[in-house]
Amino acid sequence: MKGLILSGGTGTRLRPLTYTRAKQLVPVANKPVLFYGLEAILASGIRDIGIIVGDTCREIMEAVGDGTRWGAKITYIQQDAPLGLAHAVLTARDYLKDDSFVMYLGDNLILDGITSLVNEFRNSKANAQILLAKVPNPQQFGVAELDNNTIVRLVEKPADPKSDLALVGVYMFDKSIFSASERIKPSARNELEITDAIQELINMGLKVDPHIVNGWWKDTGKLEDMLEANRMVLDRLKPVNQGEVDDKTVIDHKVVIEEGAVIQRSYLRGPAIIGKNTKIIDSYIGPFTSIQSDSIVRNAEIEHSIVCEHARIEDIGVRIEDSLIGRSVELRKTDVLPKAYRFVLGDRSVVGIL
Ligand code: DAU
Repeated sequence: MKGLILSGGTGTRLRPLTYTRAKQLVPVANKPVLFYGLEAILASGIRDIGIIVGDTCREIMEAVGDGTRWGAKITYIQQDAPLGLAHAVLTARDYLKDDSFVMYLGDNLILDGITSLVNEFRNSKANAQILLAKVPNPQQFGVAELDNNTIVRLVEKPADPKSDLALVGVYMFDKSIFSASERIKPSARNELEITDAIQELINMGLKVDPHIVNGWWKDTGKLEDMLEANRMVLDRLKPVNQGEVDDKTVIDHKVVIEEGAVIQRSYLRGPAIIGKNTKIIDSYIGPFTSIQSDSIVRNAEIEHSIVCEHARIEDIGVRIEDSLIGRSVELRKTDVLPKAYRFVLGDRSVVGIL
């Protein structure tokens, strides 16, 4: 079996971060989302993995490399435009050949891994296996209607969903998905939907097994989902201290301190992670916070937030919460007169001030 990770697309729901970077590289507990999918595929024993890339291909290739660090063979497959998940499958046809494969959407995160699911598919006679999970907002997903564990119908983002079972972004296919993808037409959003291609497999009389997942799963397309993913992963980390922590600092609950980090006169209440070479001085870092590498937090309080690398946050009089702060962002109090807020904000930035 091969792996196929989808890392093209545009990421409109995470703007402005996705104006300048791939959404699949936004960090969850200081690790790009994409790496969780990659590691889950590797854990299932698959070593040959294709990654679909689009406009952000340079950045994805730089972050992932050729796979040697994971003992994997990575092949990059360029998709000219984000014309849908089934279009991505067709684009990967020369790479996938006649092999069965597991397809993993690069912005999805399944905490319990996929090994048993991949094994189940390997041992089954199914042409496809899909994963389903109960969600409160099925309108935002592909939705499955089941009758006695048999799929009756699959609809992409229905206005009036017939069930609360969403298609999770991990799928297993054999080569019949190519002919099904060729038979479908673009949807209203002008994409070849994988949901329609799977429905086509059913129409063709082929076997599609549904599997309901009960473990934690998230599509990290939106800020609140990113923060939730961060919470879930941080909660599972084992505390470790590879940095320098002075004796005036209090570490409360699980905190991961990466190599070269310096913590002085601060209060760190986990679960939290402090990245490589980051400095936390005279500050409070609250639960469910990740601060990526090479950042400085001085005289500030941050809780339930993700801070990306090379950020500088200094002398903030009010606690920062529920925030996603991009790379190299500078946030500080200034004494320059006249007294005023001074912003340099990218398009679609969101700022809440007191
Ligand atoms: O997260 C699960 C949902 O993923 C499913 O319930 C839906 O049925 C499925 O269509 C998909 O919906 P989204 O609208 O959330 O997909 P999105 O456009 O976010 O794309 C998912 C991933 O695939 C993302 O990492 C970008 C990548 N992608 C997307 C498109 C449209 C590509 O690589 N190429 C593409 O053409």
